Amino acid sequence: MYITSRLSIYKTTIQLILKQKMDEKRANGRYYTCGNPFQIKPFQRWAKDSDLEQQVALEPFAGAKHIPQLIDTAQLKCQDWKTYDIEPGAKGILQRDTLTDFPKGFDVCITNPPWLARNSATRRGLPFPESTKYNDLYKYALDQCLTNCGWVAAIIPEAFIRSGLFLDRLSDFISIVPQTHITEQNREPKVTSNMFKDTEHPVGLALFEPNVNSDVRVWRNNQMLGKLDELRKHLPLPSSNRNIVFNEQDGNLGLIAIDNTVSASIRFCLPAELGGYKIRSHCRSITKIGVPWDVDIDMLNTRLTTIRENTYDVFFTAFKGLRRDGCYRRRLDWKLARAIIDGDYSQLKLGIT
Ligand SMILES: C[S@@+](CC[C@H](N)C(=O)[O-])C[C@H]1O[C@@H](n2cnc3c(N)ncnc32)[C@H](O)[C@@H]1O
Repeated sequence: MYITSRLSIYKTTIQLILKQKMDEKRANGRYYTCGNPFQIKPFQRWAKDSDLEQQVALEPFAGAKHIPQLIDTAQLKCQDWKTYDIEPGAKGILQRDTLTDFPKGFDVCITNPPWLARNSATRRGLPFPESTKYNDLYKYALDQCLTNCGWVAAIIPEAFIRSGLFLDRLSDFISIVPQTHITEQNREPKVTSNMFKDTEHPVGLALFEPNVNSDVRVWRNNQMLGKLDELRKHLPLPSSNRNIVFNEQDGNLGLIAIDNTVSASIRFCLPAELGGYKIRSHCRSITKIGVPWDVDIDMLNTRLTTIRENTYDVFFTAFKGLRRDGCYRRRLDWKLARAIIDGDYSQLKLGIT
């Protein structure tokens, strides 16, 4: 009895320490970069255009100096590095809160800034700068980098490309998809190159220039997917039709809004297929929708597939974890789902099928 209670106190203490460590890590967004995104073509071009070889490069959130090492491994050079961090994790890094006192006089900045969503900070009781209008620390950090440096390369969440921020400076956005390997014995994809050791958050590399004259080029690793505005043209017109009601228990249309772990499987379906599935008001994955007309489910699914193929899923939110086909799992948000359903209605009204 005595031993059991000592053991459980010990376990609780360890759990508390681990949670505290995790919270500290989250509060400063301390996930160091391990994978190397700097070998890909668009970064190599950016390095050339920014004349990296002749520059003293800035890493304002340097952690343990992984980025200078990764640049070196990618066979790229610069004159020198100046590195800062609020909590230096390696020798030679200057201690500074660069979010409030950003270093001046640098033209080129290569970084992976701290990431922390405001709602996650609030939920966990973590500090978040009050003065910023941004909903994530990485956007605030990026703003500082772009205000102070002409050329900025930043490893940031993949979701950034849907935020519409800083597009006048963005030349390229690369969705970094980890390389996977599937064997006969192991049907689940084995990730062979992850960007971080301790999180599977979907990652992108954003490349900014002092003046951008053309549309943003969007890439998946080394494959160019297209220009952002061109890809956007494949989306249906936005809809504000509030007669289409999501999360309605008696709805006449079902929607499985997230991919499974195997393939691109988001689809509309008959509500009966969802059987007794209890619809929750905040659910964002499986729902029933009330649509005030007869829906053509096959046509909706054809539209959905065409949009996914033509846009390469750039406007669908990526999930942690990869599908068996090596792509990120995606979610269809209600805004785009509404536009797809309403577009269908407009076409029926006009007699276009
Ligand atoms: C996501 S980590 C990335 C570290 C490094 N850039 C890398 O790629 O490995 C973000 C880093 O930002 C640092 N950081 C967080 N808030 C900071 C602040 N206000 N000023 C300076 N550094 C900060 C953290 O200590 C952490 O090392």
